[in-house]
Amino acid sequence: MALDAASGLLACPHCGDELGLTSPAALCDSGHSFDIARQGYLNLLGGPQPANADTAAMVAARGRVLKSGCFDVLLTLVAEAARGGRTILEVGAGTADYLKGALGDNPRHRGIALDISTAAARRAAQADVRIASVVADVWRPLPLRDRSVDVVLAVFAPRNLAEFARVLTGEGRLVVAVPNPGHLAGLRARDGLLGIEPEKEERLRVAASEFFTQVASARDRRRRDFSDAEVTDLVAMGPNAFHHSSRPRVGLLDTLDVTVHVFEPLPHDGPPGTRMTP
Ligand SMILES: C[S@@+](CC[C@H](N)C(=O)[O-])C[C@H]1O[C@@H](n2cnc3c(N)ncnc32)[C@H](O)[C@@H]1O
Ligand SMILES: [Zn+2]
Repeated sequence: MALDAASGLLACPHCGDELGLTSPAALCDSGHSFDIARQGYLNLLGGPQPANADTAAMVAARGRVLKSGCFDVLLTLVAEAARGGRTILEVGAGTADYLKGALGDNPRHRGIALDISTAAARRAAQADVRIASVVADVWRPLPLRDRSVDVVLAVFAPRNLAEFARVLTGEGRLVVAVPNPGHLAGLRARDGLLGIEPEKEERLRVAASEFFTQVASARDRRRRDFSDAEVTDLVAMGPNAFHHSSRPRVGLLDTLDVTVHVFEPLPHDGPPGTRMTP
């Protein structure tokens, strides 16, 4: 089953020991135990998911948007940035489509899709046999062993940079996709959706410089006609889905504007868990 893809990579959220996968639970040597859901994902949250976690309807809308091809350019940019990674972690993975693309077609590559939403985890568990789906909070220590993954992906997702640096191998790579201020600006203005702060990219660079060196960045900006159905799903897949509106969503010409940044970890010094300061 897909969860086996995480075999040897997972760490117990309580004590950090290796977590063994022995269905219907995952166990560490100290006896901490976590449920493997019937739907094939491992829940390491240790409590209920937050009230604002993505719902099944939001995940389904996101899946339709990805399937429509709107974000194919971004899927390609992310896959190119991750190329060569054999073990890939995606945080805030949602449907895990970006992770699947990044794994390419090598049957020996494996991925872990991490998300705080159980609805997303259910979907990610079905994405690919090479993908293990795990429910966890990116703001807590990641449930992965030190230096265990070649690539970390964060696509429109929260970023715990210190933890990304800890779980990446010395030759690993962090791939971050961010929307630029012009991204879907027409839709945001028309429907009163949240905007994107202009200084967000600079803040990412400054924060990342504590743990990483930036090695590449690729931007894609293009105009596109969005159908009524696509606009409905673009709204329904985001935080605005929580604010119900009976307003009909109609299509529009808008801009997709995204950048993919690639970072390499600063050199490790000494045993896992320690790091040279820049
Ligand atoms: C904007 S969506 C992006 C999903 C996917 N990467 C994509 O681009 O299609 C953000 C994702 O991050 C997840 N997320 C939000 N907060 C999180 C947290 N603290 N820990 C883990 N995942 C989180 C959400 O559930 C959601 O699936
Ligand atoms: Zn433990």
